[in-house]
Amino acid sequence: MASVTYIEHSGAQHQVDVPTGDSVMQGATRNGIEGIVAECGGGLACATCHCFVEEAWIARVGPPSETESQMLEFSASETKPGSRLSCQIIVDDSLNGLVVRLPETQF
Ligand code: FES
Repeated sequence: MASVTYIEHSGAQHQVDVPTGDSVMQGATRNGIEGIVAECGGGLACATCHCFVEEAWIARVGPPSETESQMLEFSASETKPGSRLSCQIIVDDSLNGLVVRLPETQF
């Protein structure tokens, strides 16, 4: 379990507990957090679950895989350091306190 804070583009913040084994994307969609669409349901096939990992967490979360990096090129918002597809970040205790920002749009 990890407490994850999602910061929408508007600045609205949501702090939720995400069970170990769930993805950061699932933590958002199961709690009705806008800004993560996740059209493909976590299949690494849509890039509508783009998020920006806060700088302090980038090393702990780790880099995207090669396939994820390729999919990130299709995201609607410009990628930055810390860009990840949130369906590919699987939560465990080490991510307790994680902060991710959400892009203005996923389309
Ligand atoms: Fe589709 Fe993450 S939900 S790539």
